[in-house]
Amino acid sequence: MVDITISGLSKSFGRVNVFDGLDLEVKDRTYVCLLGPSGCGKSTLMRIISGLDSADRGEIRFDGKNVDNLTCAQRDVGMAFQNYALYPHLTVEGNLRFPLQAPMQKGRWTQQEMRARIGEIADLLQITPLLHRTINQLSGGQQQRVSLGRSLIRHPKVLLLDEPVTHLDARLRYAMRSELKRIHNVMETTTIHVTHDQQEALAMADLLVIMREGRIDQAAPAMEVYGDPATSFVASFLGDPPRSLLEVELGETSGAPVARINGVELKLSGKLGAVANAAPGRNAILALPARAFTAAQADEPGAVLDGTVRAHEMIEGAQRIVLDVSGQKVNLHSSAIRHVVIGDRLRVFAEASDGMLFEGATGLRLSAN
Ligand SMILES: Nc1ncnc2c1ncn2[C@@H]1O[C@H](COP(=O)(O)OP(=O)(O)OP(=O)(O)O)[C@@H](O)[C@H]1O
Ligand SMILES: [Mg+2]
Repeated sequence: MVDITISGLSKSFGRVNVFDGLDLEVKDRTYVCLLGPSGCGKSTLMRIISGLDSADRGEIRFDGKNVDNLTCAQRDVGMAFQNYALYPHLTVEGNLRFPLQAPMQKGRWTQQEMRARIGEIADLLQITPLLHRTINQLSGGQQQRVSLGRSLIRHPKVLLLDEPVTHLDARLRYAMRSELKRIHNVMETTTIHVTHDQQEALAMADLLVIMREGRIDQAAPAMEVYGDPATSFVASFLGDPPRSLLEVELGETSGAPVARINGVELKLSGKLGAVANAAPGRNAILALPARAFTAAQADEPGAVLDGTVRAHEMIEGAQRIVLDVSGQKVNLHSSAIRHVVIGDRLRVFAEASDGMLFEGATGLRLSAN
């Protein structure tokens, strides 16, 4: 149970500048999910919060107290990381016992209490039959559960989970999600959970943090991030299939606001229209959900974009098609299945009413006022 304040954090590895002036505030007991593309700096941030690595500049405070010079143990942080970091020569039980016997913990638990805790955690993670095996006799998913168990066993103040469930099969991963939330509700540990899986993040997070190239694009409740993205990157990162981003020019035709793309005009109404009226001639990014596009007949008139099929697949009775429209990627999702092959030309209606507009140069959300 601790507030975490990260301010002005900078870190480079040689010439690789991972982040430069990163700020993040996490309130006591929050379950944070940290989501972002590979290489954006998630693990580096987790290692610095844990005390395994140090920042070049900036500071981290737990409940207002600077922890920069404290070790992981002194910070009272539990960690389960991507590469497990288990002791391969010890048994599962030995690995779970290890944090309870660390010098900082000396005398805190009796042998009997340690056995009880190990039993409890092993039950929770369904690894009781594995307690006497050594780590190198386990599958990747089993090792991941041991790693998770080891991070939880001391009931730490802060729990840092770096893709803790990626190696589990879908069913176990799903079960583990609700276990993690249940454990969080019971222990009320401030938790930061890195994941690649947006469904997981949307389902679990009290605070969803979207990171890109070492910057935080948005940190807000999950539904707000999903429904009200702050940048075009966030808009295109979430959603399944993700929203499509179209580079458009805002303008008006016969007094009505429009977005122009490849000589095609998409009508903008309501709030979007007001945004366009406020910024005529501006280059913008229009983010559209997959349902905004429907296939058109070859010679149909209207707001029809011409594209080339780049990829297609079937998902649960529907068809996904990725279309290239003059170098811009458009994601379609339709239950009306059509036969397509890669390279086919396809024409689609685009309907902008569910869209969002972002500034072309910065990617920041545009609003009418
Ligand atoms: N020890 C290191 N030495 C040099 N570069 C590093 C080191 N650790 C990380 N990096 C670089 O820092 C950047 C951020 O890496 P990091 O591991 O934090 O990414 P990530 O967001 O966790 O990615 P992933 O989702 O693939 O795990 C990457 O460009 C990576 O190559
Ligand atoms: Mg990582």
